[in-house]
Amino acid sequence: MQYTKKAILLDSDTISRRVKDLGREISAKYPEGNIVLVGILKGAFVFMADLARSLQVSCEIDFARISSYGSGTVSSGELKIIMDVTAPIKDKHVIIVDDIVDTGLTLNRFRKLLEERSPRSVEIAALLDKTARRQEQVQVDYCGFTIEDGFVVGYGLDCDEQYRYLDSVYVLEQ
Ligand code: IMP
Ligand code: MG
Repeated sequence: MQYTKKAILLDSDTISRRVKDLGREISAKYPEGNIVLVGILKGAFVFMADLARSLQVSCEIDFARISSYGSGTVSSGELKIIMDVTAPIKDKHVIIVDDIVDTGLTLNRFRKLLEERSPRSVEIAALLDKTARRQEQVQVDYCGFTIEDGFVVGYGLDCDEQYRYLDSVYVLEQ
């Protein structure tokens, strides 16, 4: 698929204000801290960095790299752990941090995997929620923005590894 143009969807100021709101919300819910943020690489790396710095309570930072795409571009639902979490999460409040929820298959499976490790709780924070192609209901506890169908890039999100560095979110137009 050849993309030529991109149109701005969310500018950096809008994203920044919303991420600060989410940070305040999480801090109010867990005043005692004891949180582990688990960022899903690579797409969540920018959101994770900003969200962590918006918290007013202490947290640990960890990352996982997972894939449910197999060889195609459509989520297969078969979870492949490329890099697992290293932090002990037993009795911790885990917040999975992802860039975007699309079909929902990846996050649901990853959440189940973490729940088997006896955390005190597992929640999901996603910058973007794209509901149009949802295949499984996902509980997104902290959602930045709900967006229409379309392929978005920037602020960590990529298309063939391009555009991750952009500070705003853009929709790719064919
Ligand atoms: P799913 O919810 O299992 O379909 O997988 C969601 C993952 O697919 C996200 O974490 C992204 O890595 C990727 N993804 C889905 N939609 C987009 C998009 O519009 N732009 C960039 N990556 C996307
Ligand atoms: Mg991802």
